[in-house]
Amino acid sequence: MRIVRTLEELGDALEDADTVGLVPTMGALHEGHLSLIRTARDECDVLVVSVFVNPTQFNDPADLAAYPSDEPRDAALAEGAGADVFFAPPAEEIYPTGFATTVSVSGVSEPLEGAHRGKAHFDGVATVVAKLLIAVAPDVAYFGQKDAQQVAVVRRLVADLALPVEISVCPTVREPDGLAMSSRNVRLAPEDRPRALALKAGLDAAASAATEGADPRAAEAAGLAAMRERDVEAEYFAIVDPETFAPADDLTRPALAVVAATVDQVRLIDNQPIDPIPTQEAL
Ligand code: PAF
Repeated sequence: MRIVRTLEELGDALEDADTVGLVPTMGALHEGHLSLIRTARDECDVLVVSVFVNPTQFNDPADLAAYPSDEPRDAALAEGAGADVFFAPPAEEIYPTGFATTVSVSGVSEPLEGAHRGKAHFDGVATVVAKLLIAVAPDVAYFGQKDAQQVAVVRRLVADLALPVEISVCPTVREPDGLAMSSRNVRLAPEDRPRALALKAGLDAAASAATEGADPRAAEAAGLAAMRERDVEAEYFAIVDPETFAPADDLTRPALAVVAATVDQVRLIDNQPIDPIPTQEAL
């Protein structure tokens, strides 16, 4: 595996590459990232894993300061999972002096994560993802379903700018107890860890309520109640259209339950598809 730090070195490493895959990350690699890397390994000739803790997408400076970082560990894990190129640029390579461009995706970026973290969050994501997609020019870029709204923003970006890349979305990887894998999980104190399971419990409760015929707002209420039973108040809990992230008002079409909550000062997000309820005509 080649470790590269500049856009020029990246260009050299990808010269003559056939099918290129990109797994963009902010490091602190865990099993979720490794499953993306392994999937990409099977599908691409040259696989780039980027590690860049993108400062512009952090709305909370304390969250940025606390974000775990261990490049030698990340490089070893990426290599073990099959990466060919490890792109770990310094901030000035991505944001050189005088950098003045922001890529902003309206609509899908605005509710939920956009409303709670502020507009700068998805602007930061869209700008850095656009820069990485242009720099690497991958045939396929891999993202995790856990960041479902990020995926919808990236899909909109790629469609609107006609970027020639396929976006591949891999399933959320969970700990054996159901907690969605996240780089932030390491910051959960062992005594608070059981409360972190409230997010999955809420999603399961909402999905069951929907299956039993609850309308979307009643299913959301069931999800919130299940979280409160575990002493966790959601920042938001919503059942949305998986493409637009507007509130779903009809569960006969695919919908997604999405949740964010802070447990032990660690902000967690998760989501779960809600299977469409068959209509009377379909029965
Ligand atoms: O999901 C992430 O790790 C980041 O948001 C991404 C896509 C690497 C952009 O910084």
